[in-house]
Amino acid sequence: MKAIVVTDRAAGTTGMKLAERPEPLAAINDVIVQIHASGFVPTEMAWPSTWTDRRDRDRTPSIPGHEVAGVVTALGYGTTGLSVGQRVFGLADWHRDGTLAEYVAVEARNLAPLPGDVDFAVGASLPISGLTAWQGLFQHGRLQAGQSVLVHGSAGAVGSMVAQLAREAGAYVVGTGRAADRQKALDFGAQAFVDLDNDALEDVGRIDLVFDVIGGDIQKRSAGLIRAGGTLVSIVGPAEARPADGLAVDFVCRVRSRPTE
Ligand SMILES: NC(=O)c1ccc[n+]([C@@H]2O[C@H](COP(=O)([O-])OP(=O)(O)OC[C@H]3O[C@@H](n4cnc5c(N)ncnc54)[C@H](OP(=O)(O)O)[C@@H]3O)[C@@H](O)[C@H]2O)c1
Repeated sequence: MKAIVVTDRAAGTTGMKLAERPEPLAAINDVIVQIHASGFVPTEMAWPSTWTDRRDRDRTPSIPGHEVAGVVTALGYGTTGLSVGQRVFGLADWHRDGTLAEYVAVEARNLAPLPGDVDFAVGASLPISGLTAWQGLFQHGRLQAGQSVLVHGSAGAVGSMVAQLAREAGAYVVGTGRAADRQKALDFGAQAFVDLDNDALEDVGRIDLVFDVIGGDIQKRSAGLIRAGGTLVSIVGPAEARPADGLAVDFVCRVRSRPTE
């Protein structure tokens, strides 16, 4: 099959090359997916899992890309819950060959059925940003209906998912971003919008949950807006300022940091 491979860690994305690779075999509980759309994150080139397996052995040439949408073509021994011919979307394992290829082997538990009226490209763009938004809001932020959420970067990849999920969950959503992002943020479900270059962030009043994708000074100022018992959720590293009487959660693992709560 045709695939994009990387072999040279120092070359970054410039080292990505189109190559011929063997089609993957289905291990126990795997599904083989014929890929119709895939998602790739440039920072993958800095992830150790792009270069080594779980025992830290070199696994190059490796195929990057982890988000996938496609059609099931084969099932491994013991695989249940999915069938050949089914449309699916989901996430390929960080330590295995990925989705910039014609076929990928993925554990069935990391896939979900893709409804017929959802494009493959939409399906492949959802998993990482959607899961990041979901985990931040509901698992770490413990969002409840009726609470207020300040969503930074609400026209961006993660922020737009956060705004939609929070609104769907019955929260009052305040989006932020650049002046040009206002309409997009409102379309994604924000009921109010703060243009971070021209409006005063402090005018939004007290907030139950801040979802931060920006960090720095914006994060520090946002921490001061959080109500007693509220939460600051960061996906850009450990919070530099914590709410006076609340929780700060950084839950995206990076190479040299640990999730903190
Ligand atoms: N995408 C993911 O699934 C994911 C998962 C985990 C962690 N992260 C991390 O989360 C951060 C955001 O990722 P993303 O994919 O959502 O990025 P994105 O699509 O670029 O969205 C970020 C949004 O925030 C806006 N923004 C950034 N700084 C701003 C500022 N100072 N004032 C006003 N607006 C500002 C950006 O506007 P401009 O483009 O105009 O600057 C953009 O609309 C990154 O650090 C990323 O590594 C992302």
